[in-house]
Amino acid sequence: MTTHTDTAVAALESARRQTLALTSFDDAELLAQHSRLMSPLVWDLAHVGQQEEFWLLQTGRGSYCPVFHPRVATLYDAFEHPRATRPSLPLLSPAESRRSLADVRGRVLDLLERSPADDPLFAVGMVAQHEHQHDETMLATHNLRAGAPLLTPSPTPPGRPVARDAVLVPGGPFRLGADPAVEPWALDNELPQHEVHVPAFRIGRVPVTNAEWAQFCAAGGYEDERLWSAEGWEHRLRTDLHAPMSWRPDGTGGWVRRRFGRTEAVPPDEPVQHVSFHEAEAYARWAGARLPTEVEWEKACAWDPEPGRRRRWPWGEEPPTPERANLGGTSLGPAPVGAYPAGASAYGVEQMVGDVWEWTSSVFAPWPGFRQMLYADYSAPFFDGTYRVLRGGAWATAPDAVRPSFRNWDYPIRRQVFSGLRLAWDA
Ligand SMILES: [Fe+2]
Repeated sequence: MTTHTDTAVAALESARRQTLALTSFDDAELLAQHSRLMSPLVWDLAHVGQQEEFWLLQTGRGSYCPVFHPRVATLYDAFEHPRATRPSLPLLSPAESRRSLADVRGRVLDLLERSPADDPLFAVGMVAQHEHQHDETMLATHNLRAGAPLLTPSPTPPGRPVARDAVLVPGGPFRLGADPAVEPWALDNELPQHEVHVPAFRIGRVPVTNAEWAQFCAAGGYEDERLWSAEGWEHRLRTDLHAPMSWRPDGTGGWVRRRFGRTEAVPPDEPVQHVSFHEAEAYARWAGARLPTEVEWEKACAWDPEPGRRRRWPWGEEPPTPERANLGGTSLGPAPVGAYPAGASAYGVEQMVGDVWEWTSSVFAPWPGFRQMLYADYSAPFFDGTYRVLRGGAWATAPDAVRPSFRNWDYPIRRQVFSGLRLAWDA
């Protein structure tokens, strides 16, 4: 039988394998800032160890002798030091960072050996998800890096011809949010679970593809102010947007894009990624549609109308596998639409979990009855109305760090994240 401790150790170890895979390069690679939007990789590397020590070893233990000296630990405070300033900090070297990480992890594993069998180890789950989130951030850094490729993609299943239609989700009640009995590591903003009535709507069976986005570009979507919100249009003019991040005209009317150091023709059947909320909203208007609300998105993903209950995953209770979803961060990109018939939700909606984060129309806000968790500043500082919600996880997201109830959020101008969209319509 798998114990809580086994689950926790496995989650920590899978996160660490990915962290090391993304940072096992020359010091120069780790110390460079590849984009002002991102930290140097060495900052993320030490930060995951510093946070692991803080939450699992230090908190509540006054006499504890830390691996990260308090003066050093403050360098890794994400609120204190914005990303653009992190390269100028007196950070630990890559070798010192790796040593500290291993030291903290050894102490954590010792502690876990003595944990009571009935403890779901929420703090460990939180820390493992935190490391996975930084692994995804480090993938975004790798993607923005100039120079020859460092990472090699693993293959995804082929696409298949799939209807690009709009699936009807009839109106009716639905349980929104996570049930802690099923998801003991759900984070504060996914709770408490509560019933909501969702009017009937339609949602795209698959995400919007590159070929569809290229039609939007060709039709002058980036030049037509009527498609954009006032804020979106102002941003579009100021930053001179004409296409998704890293797309360039190929000279013959098509597009090429640069990804993880490789320049290649934009594959038509892949979900589009690296678009901002503003672009996604304009595209949806051009297509005669809108973005789904995050509540609609979650219902289409997790609700099983026949028994009238939630599924743990879109396809059922079994965990993600390579046949069900593109997760885990090794494919270096989304799979073509139609690649995951076994991952369809009860309504027949595909590729909701994995491939690309999907922008929703929803502003990030707490569910009624929200209570801050152990890491009190995880969600609450971001409920100020300036962030939009993304759902479903991307190919870069670990299975331990996403669920149908999982809520990601970002500024509406962001597009270095692995963000795409799916359309919705009123029924
Ligand atoms: Fe962090």
